[in-house]
Amino acid sequence: MPFSDWLLVGTLLALGGSWNVIRADGGSERNCSAIPPYLPSTMVNTTLRLQALREAMSSVNVSAYIIPGTDAHLSEYIAPRDARMAFMTGFTGSAGTAVVTLNKAVLWTDSRYWVQAERQMDCNWELEKDVSISSIADWLIREVSDTDNIGFDPFLFSIRKAVHKDPSKLMLKSIPDNLVDRVWTDRPLIPPDNLIRLPDRVVGRTWQMKVEHIRTQMTDNPYKPTAVLLSALDETACKNATPHRSLLICSVPGLFNLRGSDVPYNPFFYSYTLLTLNEIWLFVHKDRVTEDLKLYLNSTCFPLAHCVQLLEYEQVRVMLKNYMATSGVKVWIGTEYTNYALYELITPEKLLTSAYSPVLTTKAVKDETEQRILRDAHVRDAVAVIQLLMWLEKVVPEGKETEMTAAHYVNECRSKQKDSRGPSFETISASGPNAALAHYSPSNATSRKLTVDEMYLVDSGGQYLDGTTDITRTVHWGIPTDMQKEAFTRVLMGNIEISRTIFPSGTKGVNMEMLGRRALWEVGLNYGHGTGHGVGNYFGVHECTIALLIVVSLPEPGYYKENDFGIRIEDVVVIVPAHTKYGHNYLTFETVSLVPYDRKLIDTSLMSPQQLQWLDNYYLTIRELMGAELDRQGLTEEKTWMLKHTVPFQSATASAAVSSLSLTLSALATTLLHILL
Ligand SMILES: *[C@@H]1O[C@H](CO)[C@@H](O)[C@H](O)[C@H]1NC(C)=O
Ligand SMILES: *[C@@H]1O[C@H](CO)[C@@H](O)[C@H](O)[C@H]1NC(C)=O
Ligand SMILES: *[C@@H]1O[C@H](CO)[C@@H](O)[C@H](O)[C@H]1NC(C)=O
Ligand SMILES: *[C@@H]1O[C@H](CO)[C@@H](O)[C@H](O)[C@H]1NC(C)=O
Ligand SMILES: *[C@@H]1O[C@H](CO)[C@@H](O)[C@H](O)[C@H]1NC(C)=O
Repeated sequence: MPFSDWLLVGTLLALGGSWNVIRADGGSERNCSAIPPYLPSTMVNTTLRLQALREAMSSVNVSAYIIPGTDAHLSEYIAPRDARMAFMTGFTGSAGTAVVTLNKAVLWTDSRYWVQAERQMDCNWELEKDVSISSIADWLIREVSDTDNIGFDPFLFSIRKAVHKDPSKLMLKSIPDNLVDRVWTDRPLIPPDNLIRLPDRVVGRTWQMKVEHIRTQMTDNPYKPTAVLLSALDETACKNATPHRSLLICSVPGLFNLRGSDVPYNPFFYSYTLLTLNEIWLFVHKDRVTEDLKLYLNSTCFPLAHCVQLLEYEQVRVMLKNYMATSGVKVWIGTEYTNYALYELITPEKLLTSAYSPVLTTKAVKDETEQRILRDAHVRDAVAVIQLLMWLEKVVPEGKETEMTAAHYVNECRSKQKDSRGPSFETISASGPNAALAHYSPSNATSRKLTVDEMYLVDSGGQYLDGTTDITRTVHWGIPTDMQKEAFTRVLMGNIEISRTIFPSGTKGVNMEMLGRRALWEVGLNYGHGTGHGVGNYFGVHECTIALLIVVSLPEPGYYKENDFGIRIEDVVVIVPAHTKYGHNYLTFETVSLVPYDRKLIDTSLMSPQQLQWLDNYYLTIRELMGAELDRQGLTEEKTWMLKHTVPFQSATASAAVSSLSLTLSALATTLLHILL
């Protein structure tokens, strides 16, 4: 096989896969040019494991082996047993790709992780800092001769096509039996927890309805697929909204309305599903399916088409191979999630591909029940965040709280909310200069005391049976500088510009970049990260959930030393149809996160009337939805806090403007509501 396109992209995915937490723990970096080499205590000795891996490589006749940091479902967070790159290299950052040859070992990772890599790797490993795909390909071309094989685990590569053309003649060899696993003697086991089913009250559609929905799409499809192969954990495992820092992920209540906990912070379990018009095979670790669940999966065996047949997770390749041997079959897969190990079994004439499998599209269009369910989780989640912000406002001046205690507090508040299933990622609780590290999470060694003199950023989220949340707020408890106010306001303006934009279906996420940055660019500020989790994907699907992520970081690194802060605002939005004067198929966002922004940091004089109008409308929504929820939970102090922080900005201007114009009835109603609430 030539050095083909998919491999390049697979590598890119592995490198850009997720934003993990950057730990600024104390520690020193290795020095391999010192004699003897200086190795910090945080490094891992990889000599023996590399030796074992090289033996395994020789036994299958490969002279290079690629180890991406991902799992077979291209998940954002991987379970400890999938941390093969970390096991081989010692480096535990979440983005990277390792390559081992018979005499070299190299890790590619991006600038966020260089320091960490220098602290964790021993001198067996080289660090390559150019993470472009061609850098890995060029390196392989230099190091490996034309006649040598380069081995890879096809389960760990996506099949997405790149337009990149590489003329090299490198030979790639697919080895489904992972070589790292062969030498990883104490590889963590799969968690023993049983799978659970979602309670009916949070389920929009039964799994039987969903199966029929997919089958309808199969029969409607002009290419007449005979089967659909589902690979994304989101699809079979029920993921309701955004995971942290991922590409655009649609809200996906899983096909079977089941959940598990195989992957940290996510309600996933390892699984595949092969679905035909009259059969359903679920590949899963069978010992974790309780008798109750078996009944649930087989309660409607008549017609037979609703009988779920359980097969072991590892049998998926064998089963797919058998199925492919049948004549007249055609398998439909989603290229975004399917790995190469399954793809390579399907001959081109028996293959039907689309970016997302039909199930995602199905679930992306949510019915009313699902919309209500999605919003409910955000309402309860906002209670927890409001509790945190209110508490901090009170206790920070006393000087006893730290980044760690604040993170702990918000996690506690969330755990008290109904249907809570823990945080959806490691809470980022960052004060002052720590917030300037965009994705820092506190540890005992780095946790700063919270003070009224520093800005504070909290980026956190929860898993609930009925949804996933992700929200960031930046606050200041003392007197912010003019610069901090301006930067915050401009970040907020970017957030609002995106939130209120109307765009045709099919618009690419990258188009949101300008909207998010414009107000900052005007004064020469910028941020070094993508805007929103959806960047690069299509915003074409109704009702997909994306999170807006706005980061500001100043270009001059020296600036942080003197006046240290980091600002981020992040809301989850759903895509809803927009009614436009002339066009059809236009969309807009609706913000479902419901926590006010810090008023102290908002300079309304910078904002346009439209932006202020948006903000006031948003606050009105918060007042309505959160007012009712805080009442329901009997949280009067929180309600008072919320009302104080959502006083409309425009009432003063509005009444002035209104007196000179004609007072419309709706403006009057709005004003009245503001007064009453
Ligand atoms: C590594 O050690 C060499 C030799 O002792 C020394 O010259 C060099 O400055 C050290 N590098 C770093 C980054 O400390
Ligand atoms: C790493 O382990 C090997 C094998 O046990 C040993 O020979 C070597 O000295 C160790 N290296 C370091 C730097 O500790
Ligand atoms: C190893 O692979 C190379 C390149 O494909 C091939 O020429 C050689 O015969 C193989 N050796 C063995 C022992 O299979
Ligand atoms: C459901 O019933 C079918 C047919 O009897 C059987 O093959 C399958 O294993 C059952 N599935 C479960 C989940 O018990
Ligand atoms: C951090 O400090 C707390 C309180 O002293 C302690 O309970 C906890 O175990 C520490 N955590 C770590 C990872 O050291």
